[in-house]
Amino acid sequence: MKIFLDTANIEHIRHGVRLGVVTGVTTNPSIVSREGKVDYRRLVQEICSIVPGPVSTEVLSQNAQGMVAEAREIAKWAQNIVVKIPASLEGVEATSVLASENIKVNFTLCFTLNQALLGTAAGATFVSPFVGRLDDIGEDGMKVVDDIAEYLDYYQLPTQVIAASIRHPQHCLVAAKVGAHIATVPYDVLLQMVRHPLTTIGIERFKEDWKKVMGREKLL
Ligand code: E4P
Repeated sequence: MKIFLDTANIEHIRHGVRLGVVTGVTTNPSIVSREGKVDYRRLVQEICSIVPGPVSTEVLSQNAQGMVAEAREIAKWAQNIVVKIPASLEGVEATSVLASENIKVNFTLCFTLNQALLGTAAGATFVSPFVGRLDDIGEDGMKVVDDIAEYLDYYQLPTQVIAASIRHPQHCLVAAKVGAHIATVPYDVLLQMVRHPLTTIGIERFKEDWKKVMGREKLL
């Protein structure tokens, strides 16, 4: 399973890429807004220049015509841009138009297999079920990821499922188990994924044992 970062924070993106594990980024209007009153185009272009893979950024229009117009403009910003289109009826129409123009779409705000099915049929490159938001209202978000992954696999469809709205490391490992192609994770979750007290204790103990016998902290 690939790891994308769900942020527009340049510092966090640089760190994730430096770690060598982050291969894409997803944003939305709320995420971009967290960076303050920025130059949207410039920020997205900077992200695209840092990240080796797809960078998703979202339209704001609510009708198909407006979504297509915004997406066509956004698609010119960089070669690795993916346009996020919401999983509404208007979004399905916009996705069909954009896919026919080879503009990559991330079909977002997806909460059901039926929405994913239509996004896929319309030609979306990615579908993004929002796990955390479904869990928040007492539903099983990961079940939707599981269903979509199974559906895509059964019909051998090229669309990839991105487990989105990830809230904690447990979400990541279950996403991997149910066959999500990608999990898009907030920066703090990325950091939590590698943390374990026994690893920290183990590193310290190796150092102490070495120092006791060798009389130095360095290996070489
Ligand atoms: C995904 O592409 C979305 O940007 C994101 O995962 C939404 O997460 P949230 O529910 O924490 O806002």
